[in-house]
Amino acid sequence: MKENGRLVTDALDGRGIVVLDDDDLFLNEAKELFEGRVPTDRTMSDVERRVEDSEIDLVILGPSHAHEEALTQAGELIAADPELGVVLVTETVTAPLLKAALRNGLTDVIEAPLTVEKVEEAIGQIDRLQRRRAAGTMPPEPYATEPELGTVITVMSAKGGSGKTVFATNVAMVLGKMYSPEEIVMVDADLQFGDVCLVMQMEPKFTMVNAAQELHGLDEPMLDSLLTKHSSGMRVMAAPLEPAFADEISTAAITEVVEKLRAMFRYVVIDTASMLDELLLTLLERADKVLFIVDMDLPSVKNAKLALETLRLLKFPASKIQIVLNRSNSRARLDEKEIERSLKMKIMATVPSDGIVPASVNEGRPVVESAPKSKVAKGFESVAKLVISGKPPKKSDTSSDKPAKRRWL
Ligand SMILES: Nc1ncnc2c1ncn2[C@@H]1O[C@H](COP(=O)(O)OP(=O)(O)OP(=O)(O)O)[C@@H](O)[C@H]1O
Ligand SMILES: [Mg+2]
Repeated sequence: MKENGRLVTDALDGRGIVVLDDDDLFLNEAKELFEGRVPTDRTMSDVERRVEDSEIDLVILGPSHAHEEALTQAGELIAADPELGVVLVTETVTAPLLKAALRNGLTDVIEAPLTVEKVEEAIGQIDRLQRRRAAGTMPPEPYATEPELGTVITVMSAKGGSGKTVFATNVAMVLGKMYSPEEIVMVDADLQFGDVCLVMQMEPKFTMVNAAQELHGLDEPMLDSLLTKHSSGMRVMAAPLEPAFADEISTAAITEVVEKLRAMFRYVVIDTASMLDELLLTLLERADKVLFIVDMDLPSVKNAKLALETLRLLKFPASKIQIVLNRSNSRARLDEKEIERSLKMKIMATVPSDGIVPASVNEGRPVVESAPKSKVAKGFESVAKLVISGKPPKKSDTSSDKPAKRRWL
């Protein structure tokens, strides 16, 4: 606790925090967390005075402020000092509460109990807000163009169980390592049976259902709050928790969410269901790159061929599609050249089959994290490089399984 308490003040860089609540229990907990180094106030006017008189950057509102009137007062405080970060701590975070908090300009709503990690996360958000604000106040360039938009990668396959989720999660993690996890967001667009959060050991509080419900007025801070944060810092827009909720989400809602996320993150990685329906076609249209996973078995290759023919008929640009072969060393080994001839496309990267993949899924840690030196992880790295450059990585970069092929033949 002592160590954690020190971390809090270090991370703050000398900036001040004040805790506001009229409940002794909460105030005592906060004092303990901050080793008594943080002042506490009981009323909003006390905080107002303190903010005016001293250097306060973060106000932590206790659970007794989880109502409209207190949030409006907090909004007035923020209006008077727009650089101020204000977070609300509450027993249960609900969508209406979150909406009211964000409408009033609060930085975030966090679930009780207050911990060092949560305070640090809030501080991180204030820094981000400040950076955004600073960017917003920069004078516009004479011929300012649209803000730079992130790259959307849609991961698809024409047959279920081909490895879409495993690819999407691992490639997103590699992109997070190459850039920063904070710059990567995943969208679980397998609306009925999405399992991105499951395989990443995350428990979403909000899902795409909330985003679809709040679509009107879904601004950046609100959307940010509906994302689930992975321990690495990467964000996920989770799929509905029950298949029945999928009906509540229109294709237009998902498209809007994706477009908004594109403005907030460097990469948007979308996991999909294996159904060539209106939703998938729309997500393909929106994509800058399509990772088309083909599993090393005949039905998978047959379905991939049919799906690619349909996409050609729809005049979908083939240049966006990158074919990647999963379980490339599988026993039911098909000839790669033959697969390419059948699909009329080149295989751009391969990932071998390995028992560490299902093990990593069960463990809730992507392979690139749990076994970064494995051939499978190297395969995902080569897929991520492919996504970035559009070119297959140099031979030395790939987890080439060519020698294995020669042995088989
Ligand atoms: N390269 C691999 N080696 C070993 N097992 C793999 C590999 N790729 C995927 N798997 C396993 O195959 C199963 C299906 O993978 P995954 O869930 O990623 O497929 P999917 O295409 O997302 O399936 P769905 O269509 O049901 O969403 C998982 O149990 C996973 O562990
Ligand atoms: Mg899946």
